[in-house]
Formats: sequence, structure tokens, C-alpha cells
Amino acid sequence: MSAPLLEVEDLRVHFETDDGLVKAVDGISYTVERGQTLGIVGESGSGKSVSSLTVMGLTRARNARISGSVRFDGKDLLTTSDEEIRNIRGDDVAMIFQDPLSSLHPFYKVGTQIAEAVRAHREVSKAQAWDRAVEMLGLVGIPEPRKRADAYPHEFSGGMRQRAMIAMALANDPKLLIADEPTTALDVTVQAQILELIERLQSEFDTAVVVITHDLGVVAEMADEIAVMYAGRIVEKADADTIFAAPEHPYTWGLLSSIPRLDAPRGEELVPIAGRPPSLINLPGGCSFHPRCPYVREAHKHVDPTLDPVPAHPDHKVACLLASDVRRRLWQELRSGVAPDAARKDVITEEEVA
Ligand SMILES: Nc1ncnc2c1ncn2[C@@H]1O[C@H](COP(=O)(O)OP(=O)(O)OP(=O)(O)O)[C@@H](O)[C@H]1O
Ligand SMILES: [Mg+2]
Repeated sequence: MSAPLLEVEDLRVHFETDDGLVKAVDGISYTVERGQTLGIVGESGSGKSVSSLTVMGLTRARNARISGSVRFDGKDLLTTSDEEIRNIRGDDVAMIFQDPLSSLHPFYKVGTQIAEAVRAHREVSKAQAWDRAVEMLGLVGIPEPRKRADAYPHEFSGGMRQRAMIAMALANDPKLLIADEPTTALDVTVQAQILELIERLQSEFDTAVVVITHDLGVVAEMADEIAVMYAGRIVEKADADTIFAAPEHPYTWGLLSSIPRLDAPRGEELVPIAGRPPSLINLPGGCSFHPRCPYVREAHKHVDPTLDPVPAHPDHKVACLLASDVRRRLWQELRSGVAPDAARKDVITEEEVA
């Protein structure tokens, strides 16, 4: 079998700040195969963006300490020169962000910006680049693309701007697309359209995709694999079906219960995960999720769990100190409506703690 397209190993990104060392990403590993989709999910501040920006060489700063390795298509992206990574960015690896206005310049026509993105990496004439821009705008579903290419970003609706950004990102036929919260700013219907568009183009071009989101619902349909991040680490990783059907980390259970449901009455309270994410400067001792875990035991405050395979399913990895069969039982109970309150702690005996 050939090597994965992207292989991230023990990646750490620590920032030196006046308040102390911020461990934004603290030892994450994952791989993405050609044409596959990885979803990276976690609350705000869990390190999703920093890890992906680092893959693109966008966190290289004097106060950043970066270690581990990022291999993309045979190259180590952490050690490439700034010039080389600039050449890779927008060519073999492209990124789309939550806010299209941060990527589209307000003073230039949309078509011009896409054409320039093409010319930055391809030896083509201006006319050819313009044609490519029009072609891409058509591909992402912008009506009358030749006319719309002549418009400025503010003349586009939010959803159309997002489509234009996708057009720009895919104009050079990248092998990998990183989409960081690509639909958060959009309403639900447009969200669904944009996700479908990314999926369709992905299968057409055989692009690998990393989708970053705080909402598990967003990656439910499109991700092959899902990595759940908490406080700079991956705490659970498995194929998407397993994450939804048989999740084993209490944090993932919390994320699952906070997915907005289309059939829920408007304004109905989602079940949030109680408590707040920890400070990345002073992480809690032991399992960093322990202050928020409904099933915490004394030992969890002292022992740091590693991301280990579940006995019955080696591709499913979980960083949790509870034994796998206990976790499975708790999940079954949760699903049948037993609330994870303090009393539930009595259910787990000390012997059941792995
Ligand atoms: N240059 C920097 N210097 C210091 N700390 C930083 C820097 N960049 C990011 N951080 C910190 O790193 C942590 C992780 O940030 P990151 O942007 O990756 O979170 P995220 O998971 O993408 O969150 P969100 O869902 O809000 O986008 C945050 O606590 C953030 O404040
Ligand atoms: Mg982010």
C-alpha cells in the first residue's frame, strides 16, 4: 500500500506568551489517505485551527515551538523552507476559512482573484487564467459565471462568497483541502448546500479533505474518519459510523448530545457539556478532561491517559482511563436516557477503573 497523503505524527505547537507556555497542540497524530475525509471536531480553543495552520506552515513565528512531523506526499512540511511551503500552499494544499471576507480582497473582482491564484502557481496567460476562474465559478454553482466573475465580493451573498472561495481553493486542483469551519457563518440550508458542494467536488477531483468544526453534525455525512480534540490532544478517533454509533469518550458523548437537531422545536435548549475547557497554560493534572467528566474517579486526577486502541476494534482509539466495557455500558445507559449526574459515579466501582 502506498504511504498516506498526509501523515501527522506527534505534532506539538506551543506558544511562548507573557502568561506562560500555551500548549495549543500537544502531541497529535493522524493520517489522511488520498480522496478521504477527516473531520476534526472539538470545542473552541481545543487546537483545531492551530494544528491545521501548522500543517500549512502558517504558525511559523518566533514565539511558536513546533515539533513532531508533518509528511505530505513525501515531503516534511515542518522543515521545508518558507519559500517552498508558499509554493505548496494554494497549489497542492489549499485551505478555506470560516469567513470568506478574510480571504477575498474587497477591492478586486472575484474573477481576478481566482485568476491570480491560478497564475501564482501555473504558467498560463491572463486569458487562460480568467477562463479557469469562470469555469470554477460555474463548477461551484454560481449562475452566469462569466458575468459574476466581473463582480466584487460585496456584490455576492454570504453563501455565494463561500462558493467563490471554494472555487479559488480548488482552482489549482489541490491534493488536499483543509476547510476550517467552512459553514459556521451560513444559515442551515446554505450550510447543507456548501457541504454537498465540497463532497461533490471532492469525488470529482479525488481531493482529500480535512474538515474542522465544533459541530459533529457538520461532519456526520461527509467524514470517513473523525478525530475528537480536547485541550490540544486527540481524545477519540475512529471511523465516522463508530463515533456516532459506539463512541467511548465521555467528552464525545457530550459533543453528540449538543448536536442541534433539525426536528427539534426552535429554541429548544441543547445539552451543553458542563464546565469550561481548561487553561492551556495550566492543564489539570491527570486526565485533562477530569474536572468536567461525570465519571471521574480519584485516580483520573493523577494518571494521564494515552490514546489507545479499544480491545474489540483496533482502529478505534480512545484516551480515557475507564475500562472499555464500562464505557460501552455507560454509553448504552446514556442512550436509553440515564442522565450522567453525580450519582452515576457510584455505578463504577474502583475495580472497574482500568
Ligand atoms: N499565536 C498564538 N499565541 C498564543 N496562543 C495562541 C496563538 N494562536 C492560538 N493560540 C491559542 O491556542 C489555543 C488553540 O487555538 P485554536 O485557534 O487552534 O482553537 P480552535 O480549536 O480552532 O478554536 P475555535 O473553535 O474557536 O476556532 C487557544 O487557546 C488560542 O488562544
Ligand atoms: Mg479555529
